[in-house]
Amino acid sequence: MKIGIFDSGLGGLIILKAVRKLMPEYDYVYLGDTKRVPYGNKSPQAIFKLTKKAVNYLFRKENCAIVLIACNTASARALRKIQQEYLPKNFPNRKVLGVLIPAAEMACVYDSVGILATVGTVASKTFPIEIKKLNNQAKVFQNAAPRLVPLIEEGKNELALLWLLKYLKPLLQKKIRALILGCTHYPILKREIKKILPKNVKIISQEEIVPRKFKEYLARHPEITKQISKKKDLRIVITEETSNLKVLIRKWFGSAISIVLLSS
Ligand code: DGL
Repeated sequence: MKIGIFDSGLGGLIILKAVRKLMPEYDYVYLGDTKRVPYGNKSPQAIFKLTKKAVNYLFRKENCAIVLIACNTASARALRKIQQEYLPKNFPNRKVLGVLIPAAEMACVYDSVGILATVGTVASKTFPIEIKKLNNQAKVFQNAAPRLVPLIEEGKNELALLWLLKYLKPLLQKKIRALILGCTHYPILKREIKKILPKNVKIISQEEIVPRKFKEYLARHPEITKQISKKKDLRIVITEETSNLKVLIRKWFGSAISIVLLSS
């Protein structure tokens, strides 16, 4: 069986790359729903439906033992329902994890935290809720950045810089001490973000945190881990071809990786 990693588009590839670097021995399959990206502006019902479909595909067709939802929007809008309703009924022995809690755990030590995320993640209030559970004194400020994901998918990072200035301004006015990149696409813009943020603002970026947490989870769950095959295999499945995605896949995973187009 394999480890499945899912995102609406290319953002989760950054998590895949970091997880695979830490645990190269396992077999992985990545699903990017590039046909329907961005998820950020969709209704909670639509996000749940698409996430359930993706998880179902990864379990049934790709034989995954565990799925990591490397998308904050899907984690915020669908993860709980998947864990509480879908899994017990359909796959009681498999697991689905998200990426939000590890970032909230890291952020909670700061007294003033900014969140940059999609409209859906911001509306769900998941980050403020989770941070405040850990530190009820923390001040948490959010701003939605709806233009960033489409620009990142198209590889237009320079244009994204102008939008970043606009989106980060209200957070910086609140004198934040840490900024959560609350969308797995945003680490691609880390260089641009660093240009804008003062040096004393800590950037919390999930690809630096999630792999270790995921490894710890696997160590605590041998019933799952012992089923994962170790052939160092990687399969990347997308629902629509985009040129930037292909470029990134070749750059990060080499030209030998086969990209499978799923018609759905
Ligand atoms: N990578 C997704 C996230 O972390 C992007 C969301 C989108 O598709 O809008 O939220």
